[in-house]
Amino acid sequence: MTAMVTKEQIAELKQNNLPGLHQLIQEKADSRELLFVLENLGYLPRGFDANVLVPFLKHPNDQVRLWTIKNLGKVTDPRFMKLLLESATADADSMVRREAVSSIGRMRTEKAIPYLTQLLNDSDPKIVLQAIRGLLVFRANLPVKEQLEKLAKHPNEMVQSVIRKEFFQNSNGHEAKEHHATSPRGLQNVVVQGDVREILKYVPDESIHLTFTSPPYYNARDYSIYESYNAYLDFLTQVFCEVHRITKEGRFLIVNTSPVIVPRVSRAHSSKRYPIPFDLHARLVQNGWEFIDDIIWLKPESSVKNRNAGFLQHRKPLGYKPNPTTEYLMVYRKQTDKLLDWNMRAYAWDTIQASRIQGEYETSNVWKIDPTFDRVHSAVFPLELCNRVIKFYSYKGDLVFDPFAGSGTLGKAARNLQRYFFLTEQEKKYVERMKQDLVEKDLFGNETRFSTLEQFAELASRAKPSR
Ligand SMILES: C[S@@+](CC[C@H](N)C(=O)[O-])C[C@H]1O[C@@H](n2cnc3c(N)ncnc32)[C@H](O)[C@@H]1O
Repeated sequence: MTAMVTKEQIAELKQNNLPGLHQLIQEKADSRELLFVLENLGYLPRGFDANVLVPFLKHPNDQVRLWTIKNLGKVTDPRFMKLLLESATADADSMVRREAVSSIGRMRTEKAIPYLTQLLNDSDPKIVLQAIRGLLVFRANLPVKEQLEKLAKHPNEMVQSVIRKEFFQNSNGHEAKEHHATSPRGLQNVVVQGDVREILKYVPDESIHLTFTSPPYYNARDYSIYESYNAYLDFLTQVFCEVHRITKEGRFLIVNTSPVIVPRVSRAHSSKRYPIPFDLHARLVQNGWEFIDDIIWLKPESSVKNRNAGFLQHRKPLGYKPNPTTEYLMVYRKQTDKLLDWNMRAYAWDTIQASRIQGEYETSNVWKIDPTFDRVHSAVFPLELCNRVIKFYSYKGDLVFDPFAGSGTLGKAARNLQRYFFLTEQEKKYVERMKQDLVEKDLFGNETRFSTLEQFAELASRAKPSR
């Protein structure tokens, strides 16, 4: 048995004995050893004959083919381009195919242009993205630029986004940044009573920094009666499309929902469970909201409705009904080509310092928070839930919005955390409750303005950016 080759031997052969290195590569029949040599070749010295690598492009082991391609990419020799193109289009392994495109791109020679252009038609979007990366080096070349610009209509969203960012970046990006940290004065610390769909007609585009809300449940409580589940989803879609319009570029929407159960009509029927977060999700992403995260709000089992009584007795499979101890906080961002860094840079240094999250914080997506029970409203946010969302997803001085404000918990948290709030709520009794909290406990701050839809329409027409 021959001894295993070492990194030192490879380095020594590279420096002093290239024919020996060629021989070593050609003679390695064992995949594991061959792979070791290919992985440890490092830079290729002048005089290295890359032809010794070519047979391994057809090697049965995926990793051997991948590393062969990585090494061929280092040679910057257009003679290998045709072979690489063959691997890029015909190899059975998608990682090998992508590496081949990357290797062609890395050669950074104009001779690669026709090969990379051909690969723009590949069915794997990652191949297309690699080819784009290679071609962007030659963007000054008009035909290349034109080819790339056509991809703005490519079916894949990542391809579209790269092309939009590279070629169609908003030329007034600077202006947008200047106003990013401000909000209209007419919306700051304002509570409007009415149907959110009517109210939002008077709110200017790009006014809000963050929306956190818990929409009415589908036919589960007296304030939420809809003709059908579809009509309910249409209603929410309409509201969140408007929220999208009034949200600033790249900022967040966080929706708290959970599947709801509509009880059975009689013993002869079964109850029905509606997967609201999942159905709503599809509609949100179709309407310009980019999915970012799903956070689970976990409640103690003792605080939720017990669905186990029947099963506990009969123990018959199929009749199992787990107690629902979780709700979702689905996190979305208003779609943009700009990175989060662009949003962060819109703030002054002292605002960033003052908004930093201090000390311990929840690092996982499971937030254990006890629910809050309220004598007036049947489904209020716990203050802690609002505190976390506001701290993680907004800066001090931002304007946060709850279209379905209920008892206005988000407003109370916003005020404590030095953010402005804008709340809309349909039910008079809940708005009255907010007024009472203001007068009796000063929970919202004296500067809070309550208005009807008509008064708000008048106020909003006079709104101007501030701060
Ligand atoms: C789940 S509750 C929100 C509770 C709130 N998160 C809190 O902490 O009190 C949903 C609220 O949406 C309100 N609502 C329902 N339809 C509305 C509409 N079209 N416009 C404004 N508010 C509406 C309901 O009256 C209810 O108070």
